[in-house]
Amino acid sequence: MNGKALIQALNGVYEWVDKRLHVTDLFNHTAGHPIPKSSASWFYVFGSATLLCFMIQLLTGCLLALVYVPSAAEAYTTLEYLTFRQELGWFLRATHYWGSNFMVGIMLIHVTQVFLFGAYKYPREITWMSGVVLMLLTLGLAFTGQVMRFDEDAYWGLGIGAAIAGRSPMIGQQVVNFMLGGPIIASETLSRFFTLHVFVLPGSVLALVALHLRMVLTKGINEYPKPGQIVRKETYDKEYATIIKKEGIPFFPHGIWKDLVAASIVIGGILFCVLMFGPKGPLGEPNPTQIDTVPRPDFFFLWIFAIAALMPDYMETFMLLVAPPIIIGLLFILPFINNTGEKSWRRRPIAVLSVILIYLSLGLLTYLGQTSPWSPDMKAWSGAETPREFVEGRSPLELQGLAVLQNKQCRNCHAIDGIGGHRGPDLADVGTRLTKDQLVRQIIQGGGNMPAYGKNLSPYETEALVAYMVSLHPKDELPARDSTIPATPAPLSVQEGEQHEAVGAH
Ligand code: HEC
Repeated sequence: MNGKALIQALNGVYEWVDKRLHVTDLFNHTAGHPIPKSSASWFYVFGSATLLCFMIQLLTGCLLALVYVPSAAEAYTTLEYLTFRQELGWFLRATHYWGSNFMVGIMLIHVTQVFLFGAYKYPREITWMSGVVLMLLTLGLAFTGQVMRFDEDAYWGLGIGAAIAGRSPMIGQQVVNFMLGGPIIASETLSRFFTLHVFVLPGSVLALVALHLRMVLTKGINEYPKPGQIVRKETYDKEYATIIKKEGIPFFPHGIWKDLVAASIVIGGILFCVLMFGPKGPLGEPNPTQIDTVPRPDFFFLWIFAIAALMPDYMETFMLLVAPPIIIGLLFILPFINNTGEKSWRRRPIAVLSVILIYLSLGLLTYLGQTSPWSPDMKAWSGAETPREFVEGRSPLELQGLAVLQNKQCRNCHAIDGIGGHRGPDLADVGTRLTKDQLVRQIIQGGGNMPAYGKNLSPYETEALVAYMVSLHPKDELPARDSTIPATPAPLSVQEGEQHEAVGAH
């Protein structure tokens, strides 16, 4: 067979397929569709780059699912197997992890660009709204993804999430049950999040991406906005059609090459992080009785963590439960609040200012979430010294209480006279604030961001600990007492003396 005959034969095959699948038509309406020349810009590559990241996540996710077992008993083991034994398993895990970070990051750039270029305005409202839903789904994927590790981080991240959900008025407990598949984090929780992470959320993303791209095709890509070019509902469609007629170029190949360059940069960036930093965790099997862990969500949720820890109690519920729906709602209806007018960011100072403000506060909160003084200081329990006046003159029981305070790593969160962690209150004068009963309750039950130590302390340790803390008060101030009990006539020193004798008898 000579060349000419071969080409003829291939042509025949192509025509046969085309007649049935209409590939030429499909191409002309998708990759071949004309875009404004000005839109073949570097600013317009972030949407396709986000989609690329999603594809990478789909691929690596499917491969990971071949080994991963979503059960509380086995998840951790299978991750360890993937990380340390399976050939290139670590590479898969790292790519999936970094792919998710890149996806969230690039998606945020894409949203910001679309916002600043006024692309959400008439007639691209649905494009924008489907984009907002895609953003939420992506964040959902990121959150459920960190649960898949089912290590300490995931466990505590879930705990914080459940605590937030539990604040819902009236239905708090039901929401928690629904979220965790029961009152506590257990195997059911993992199955639930696994289902969300591998079926529900990716499926929804695929469906919405289809809608999103369909809108991009029917309503066209936003022209590069020029200052002074005003969007009016009456004239915009005609103006856009004129732009396309006058200076429209087919997306393939004129627009796509920039997307391809961006795609290679993204892939290069992910590979760089994979090789430099490797996979994240797993950080050790979750263990609810281990309280010296530093619960830290993945970085894109650190700001929520910071809000939860920084806000005064009465603001917390509002900030965590009421503010997010309002913000999301506003984002969603943005095209209807601001549908026409100027598109260029050069003439929209409020838009630019909002973006700067939002990123500054997110950045600041993330920074605080990372380095905050109120996160535990993990070395304080073995490294922080105890000032002399907090040791001197203490009874043996009290001194043993001090040892418990060190050993149980209370100092990681609690300073004594400024030395130690600052997540909880300084304990230097705790004896003036809380009575013995209140101290016992706080230690056994925890609460207010302090873990419960009930199962981790023997009655004797608790007694010693409380005895020591009761002794923590300035010399000229008495310890706190329960005001519902009339003041005992016996002087305090006598009571203490009795206690010391009791210890001596041990
Ligand atoms: C993970 C950090 C963390 C650890 C570890 C921790 N605490 Fe706390 N603790 C806190 C926080 C936060 C509070 C404030 C609770 C609140 O606001 O209701 C607190 C409150 C207290 C209080 C009440 C103080 C006051 O002035 O109201 C006492 C007493 C206390 N902790 C004792 C202990 C003891 C004893 C240990 C070790 C067995 C310990 N804590 C371990 C975080 C911690």
